[in-house]
Amino acid sequence: MRSKTLSTGYKMPMLGLGTVNFGEGKTYPALRAALKAGYRHIDCAMMYDNEAEIGQAIADAMKEDGIKRSDLFITSKLWNSFHKPEDVRGALEKTLADLQMEYLDLYLMHWPVALKKGVKKPTSSADYYSLEDVPLMSTWRELEECFDEGLVNTIGVSNFSTHKLEDLIMEARVAPAVNQVELHPFLQQNELRSYCLHNNIAITAYSPLGRGIPADLTEQQKQEVVLAHPVIEEIAEKHDATTSQVVLKWAIQNGIIVVPKSGNPERLAQNLAALACDLDEHDMSRIAHLDKNHRFIPGDEYFLSGSPYTWENLWDEPRPE
Ligand code: A2P
Repeated sequence: MRSKTLSTGYKMPMLGLGTVNFGEGKTYPALRAALKAGYRHIDCAMMYDNEAEIGQAIADAMKEDGIKRSDLFITSKLWNSFHKPEDVRGALEKTLADLQMEYLDLYLMHWPVALKKGVKKPTSSADYYSLEDVPLMSTWRELEECFDEGLVNTIGVSNFSTHKLEDLIMEARVAPAVNQVELHPFLQQNELRSYCLHNNIAITAYSPLGRGIPADLTEQQKQEVVLAHPVIEEIAEKHDATTSQVVLKWAIQNGIIVVPKSGNPERLAQNLAALACDLDEHDMSRIAHLDKNHRFIPGDEYFLSGSPYTWENLWDEPRPE
C-alpha cells in the first residue's frame, strides 16, 4: 500500500476506510470485509459511536485472519465536548478501551469547536463553550502529553483553517502532523494544501467522494454531484475505471491521503483498487478546473443563534453567497 511519511516518521497509508454512518449493526461486517479486502488504515472517531464494534471486528480479524496490530494504521478523534484539559485523557482512554488497543497511530482534535460535556450535537446556545472559555491551545497541550506518554504515535487536527494552524504551530511544542479536512474536486482547498505542504503537515481528505451519488439524477443535477459530473465520467471512461476511482486517485496523485467510506463490499474493493488507476496531466488539470469552494459539510450545527461560532470564525473565510 502506498503511504506517506509523517513528520513524526510514521508511515500513513494513502487510502483508508472512513467509518461514519454505517448504520445499526453494519459496522462490524463492513470492517471485516474491508480488512479482508486489504484495507489497513481505518479512520475512526468517538463521535461516530461505533468504536466498540470496530474494535471487536479488528480483534476478530487479528485472531482469525492473521492481521497484526503493527500492520494497521488506526486514527481516532477527540470529540468537541472533551476539550477541557481535564477531560482529554479520559476521552482517549475510552476510545482505546473501545477499540481494544494500547495505542493509536494518530489522534486528531475533531473540530476547532468546544462543546459542553455530554453534548454530541448542539441544540441551543447553552451547549457551546467559546474558544476564549476553552482555548484550542489548552486542549492541544493535553494531546502533547498523550503523545509524550506513547498513547498515540502522532497527533493532529481536523477542520482547521490555515489561520488556526498558524496560531497552533506558533505555540505548540509538538507540531500537528496531519490536518483532516473535507476535500474533493468541488472543494480543492488549494491555499490550505500549499500551507500544509510548506509546513510538513499531511492532509487527509474526508468525504473525498463528495458524499456518494443519489439515484435518478437529471443531466442538470449531475453537475452538482462529484461522482456523476460529466468531466469525471469522461475521465473514468477513458481509463476504464469508476468515477470513484478517478476522484480518489486524483487526490492521491496530489499527495492527499483519502478515507472514503463504504459499507458495501463491492464498493469497498472498488475504492481500494483506485490505487491502480493512473491519471495523466490532462486529466489532473481538467479536474483542477472543477473547484468551486463548495462544502457539503459546512458545520451548520455550530452556528445556532447565540453560538460564539460563525461560518466566518470557524472557516476563517467569508460565507459564499
Ligand atoms: P455506501 O456506504 O453504500 O457504499 P464520502 O466518503 O465521500 O463521504 O462518501 C460516502 C458515500 O459514498 C456513502 O454514501 C457511500 O455509500 C458512497 N460510496 C462509497 N464508495 C462508493 C463508490 N465506489 N461508488 C458510489 N458510491 C460510493
